[in-house]
Amino acid sequence: MAEKLENIGACVFDAYGTLFDVASAAAQCKDELGDKWEPLSDIWRMKQLNYTWLRSLMEEYKDFWQVTDDALDFAMDTLGIDDKALKGKLINLYATLDAYPEVPAMLETLRSNNVRTAILSNGNMTMLNSAVESAGLSELFDAVISVDTIKIYKPHPSVYQLAVDELSLPAERICFMSSNAWDVAGAANVGFKVNWVNRFGQATERLPGKPANEIKSLDELPAILGL
Ligand code: 2OP
Repeated sequence: MAEKLENIGACVFDAYGTLFDVASAAAQCKDELGDKWEPLSDIWRMKQLNYTWLRSLMEEYKDFWQVTDDALDFAMDTLGIDDKALKGKLINLYATLDAYPEVPAMLETLRSNNVRTAILSNGNMTMLNSAVESAGLSELFDAVISVDTIKIYKPHPSVYQLAVDELSLPAERICFMSSNAWDVAGAANVGFKVNWVNRFGQATERLPGKPANEIKSLDELPAILGL
């Protein structure tokens, strides 16, 4: 049974993998990729995240669009795909990823109950605004917050402090949702009340910072807030 969360001042969402389906870019190129579309998507995502963590440790920041582009090059090299036109199609699709089906109605429910909503993401503002607009979600967020202002990636604590500062709320009044267990750990570790959207049935991370709830879909969120 999910733990009810009270005295929440805002709901803050991770973007990629939580609101938006990162596999939807490669999935739209199944004709060109054939049975390589899923391995390409998986290698692309894994390398994109690895580069954010490595670049943060190396203090060599590049924005998420550039890192995503580099990761796609690596993934296509790994699978022996040499096709500049396809590369261009794939990276452009990353700017307009599908939102998961339950997202619009869930956000509408929060907004109709005057719950403040925000995105906190590694994405830069251009790619986040593009994803939000193309998914028709522009009116459903009070704020879109990008790590690009501080040039370091999740799960560094200063990323989550951005939400505390932007929303003028203490950490414990922020309800945070992410499908990325390492992001869940980072947010819980600074005191956010976290719901892990375990879309892919992953095992529990051995990291500091535990979520309040593990849910399968964002449509479970309103009930957790007592809505
Ligand atoms: C984010 O949107 C990468 O999913 C992560 O910040």
